Amino acid sequence: MKTLSSLPLVLHLVSGTCLTAQDGILDLTNLNNYANQGQPAYITRNNTPGNNPITDPGATLGRVLFHDRRVSRDNSVSCSSCHVQAHAFGDLPTASTGVAGTTGRHSMRLINGRFAAEARFFWDERATSLENQTTQPIRDHAEMGFSGASGDPSFTDLVTKLTAIPEYRVMFAMTFGDAAITEARIQRSLAQFVRSIQSFDSKYDAGRAVANDNQNFPNFTAQENAGKQLFLVAPPQGGAGCAACHAPPEFDIDPNSRNNGVTASIGGGTDLTNTRSPSLRDLVGPGGQSNGGFMHNGGFATIADVINHYNSIPGDNANLDPRLRRPGGAVQNLNLSQTQKDNLAAFLRTLSGTQVYTDEKWSDPFNATNVLELIILPADAATIVRNPDGSMIVRCQAAPNLFYQLEASTDLSTWTLQGTLTSDAAGLMEQPVTVAPPAMFYRFTYTPPAP
Ligand code: HEC
Ligand code: HEC
Repeated sequence: MKTLSSLPLVLHLVSGTCLTAQDGILDLTNLNNYANQGQPAYITRNNTPGNNPITDPGATLGRVLFHDRRVSRDNSVSCSSCHVQAHAFGDLPTASTGVAGTTGRHSMRLINGRFAAEARFFWDERATSLENQTTQPIRDHAEMGFSGASGDPSFTDLVTKLTAIPEYRVMFAMTFGDAAITEARIQRSLAQFVRSIQSFDSKYDAGRAVANDNQNFPNFTAQENAGKQLFLVAPPQGGAGCAACHAPPEFDIDPNSRNNGVTASIGGGTDLTNTRSPSLRDLVGPGGQSNGGFMHNGGFATIADVINHYNSIPGDNANLDPRLRRPGGAVQNLNLSQTQKDNLAAFLRTLSGTQVYTDEKWSDPFNATNVLELIILPADAATIVRNPDGSMIVRCQAAPNLFYQLEASTDLSTWTLQGTLTSDAAGLMEQPVTVAPPAMFYRFTYTPPAP
């Protein structure tokens, strides 16, 4: 809560701390913590560029954009249509459905994308940065449809569309200092949100916090510890060699990896370009169910299917990673026993957390009918002015030319309307207020018009 110390009479501009979070209410006075979430000490890889650190306002704006179907040309598809929080921000169907057809590759889980040596994105690493990646689905004809080709509206049309939505003017102003909406700003905020998605509350993390990878973890079963060894140790020494490309404790992909012998495209044909994998964390959800099929073609339904693939790589190809060949050039055949396969699978299941699946900060802020009902504005930009005659005015810097409500409360639970204000062209609003004892709290709210 913000208390204005210049006012002994306890006039507070609030802070929505009294509100429990609920769908459809976006409290911009009480932002979620995205910027300082903290990570385990053993997590060291981080691909965040110096010029776009995660901020709480930026990731909040990114959260709204990520879950907003209006970011597609026909208001039917959001990023979260294909990146579902309950499935580690991946998707269950092999191909995901966009505004005009289905995707050519399987949707990727968006877990710990920032804690990686690799800074390029997509299965084939064609996005040179996460910022660059974020507007590619928007510009894609099949996915979100602002391609500017094939009769689609262009990205400029999206900017015009978002600019006409008052709450976006509020949020861009909050994040960037003015209400201008540009592709670069959309990219920055979406990338901040995606980078903020982190998962470190797994069984593996509980063990890794007290032991090194090469030691047995005290919280693991014998099977899980045996599986961990198989994951770490190279094939010539009797292991499965997974860590060479999916290195713990991040389990991110080696930037130099080539393909792993999975070459079939969803639509038929061959694709040798897939050299990136998301982190192997959260392959399965807390209940043990796969978060969608695995690999770029979603072709393996279970972890067991994945292990069978590596156990016996089915065929050679020109871009197969040399680590999956044996001396002489033959493709890998690990000859794992069923017990070893089960051990390895048990270890991979320890890499899943729980919090990321439900945490409100990554959840859909819209209500069941896809609208925001109420936005509570930051009070930091507000000041109280005391006139010579003792009367007072609340002054607030907001987005230009919008209607706001000023609400007052004495107990932070019941709020009464004090007046409706319109901000001027510079975004300034003023409202006379009376300070009633014992204490008075004020907040500005903005109610988006019915769609
Ligand atoms: C219609 C489904 C669909 C929509 C909508 C969609 N994505 Fe994706 N996303 C995918 C697919 C499929 C891939 C993998 C594509 C590829 O590699 O060619 C992917 C890949 C990604 C990746 C790369 C992850 C990695 O580890 O390399 C990120 C990040 C991402 N999407 C973010 C977003 C954002 C942000 C939005 C909204 C602006 C969005 N996606 C909208 C299906 C979708
Ligand atoms: C030579 C590097 C390399 C090695 C060694 C390797 N992988 Fe992979 N892994 C990859 C690549 C590249 C992909 C993505 C391939 C694709 O989708 O076509 C991948 C994908 C995966 C996926 C799918 C991830 C997803 O999000 O769908 C799993 C699971 C996986 N690997 C597990 C393992 C296990 C277990 C081992 C050890 C038995 C292993 N990998 C060894 C390079 C490797």
